[in-house]
Amino acid sequence: MEELDKIKKEINSASDLKELDGIYKKYLGKKGEVALALRSIGDLSEREKKERAPQLQSLKKEIEEEVLKRSSELKSSGAEEALRGEWLDVTAPGKKAELGHLHPLTQIQQKVNEIFSSLGFEIVEGPELETEWYNFDALNIPKDHPSRDIWDTFWMQDKELLLRTHTSPVQIRHMEKHQPPIRIIAPGRVFRHEASDASHDIQFYQLEGLMVDKDMSVANFKAVINEFLSQLFGENVKIRLRPSFFPFVEPGFEVDMYGPKGWMEMLGAGMVHPNVFKAAGYNPVNWQGFAFGIGLDRIAMMKYKIDDIRLLYSGDLRFLKQF
Ligand code: PHE
Repeated sequence: MEELDKIKKEINSASDLKELDGIYKKYLGKKGEVALALRSIGDLSEREKKERAPQLQSLKKEIEEEVLKRSSELKSSGAEEALRGEWLDVTAPGKKAELGHLHPLTQIQQKVNEIFSSLGFEIVEGPELETEWYNFDALNIPKDHPSRDIWDTFWMQDKELLLRTHTSPVQIRHMEKHQPPIRIIAPGRVFRHEASDASHDIQFYQLEGLMVDKDMSVANFKAVINEFLSQLFGENVKIRLRPSFFPFVEPGFEVDMYGPKGWMEMLGAGMVHPNVFKAAGYNPVNWQGFAFGIGLDRIAMMKYKIDDIRLLYSGDLRFLKQF
């Protein structure tokens, strides 16, 4: 009996299931003390057997019961502990959800749209897949004329459609359906069949502008474009016009803006050519106008000091996250 008490104490002091298993084995395992004693009962005399056997049997039963009791105790307290581990701290700060933002080109686009809207310009759009007529002929760029070489063109296989090389075809599409006075901008994607480098890509974004009315002159153009660039760059910019050639304007010029790196070319422009008015169904005697084409990528690159146009189309988050 004394022995039983000692064993029970030992069992109840087991602090985990592994330790309990060790204690069980010590008494009832293959080489356990009680198990061995039970097995050697056959060696005893009849009298000793009668006395010892029931004692050992009941000891074995007691130990088994005690171990079972302790093991269920240990198991339930273990479960509680596991539950405690899952405790939820409702006051802990949450994981921060990552916020996306607009692409730098989209930001520029929206800003430019805003400025021209404030100057009374309407925003219109045209198709990226164009006909030869709208992209070239109607803009005074006839078939087989060397001026077509200014635009390296992606032609569709049947040669009837092309990827527009500039946003100027939208001028014609709009004038066909509307009468002056006209004040529109037409932002959109254009395509050039060219080798790409840090300042050229096979696709980029342009913004066409067109204003048509009576008695329009280069002075009107200069005022509008000066206001636009000043609002965009947030200061009074210095600009100059240089003579240049585009078949759909006469005179044509390029606009430079003065910046940290000296004069920078910003856009092409000019007074709408009479042949363009004729192609759109206007009488050129009645109307004058100016048109301009701005490279939005170049503006984004200047404003954000980006030195490679290809970064804008790379989808590289290390780049995009800076804006
Ligand atoms: N369409 C010309 C280009 O892509 C730019 C331009 C537009 C020039 C309007 C003059 C007038 O190069």
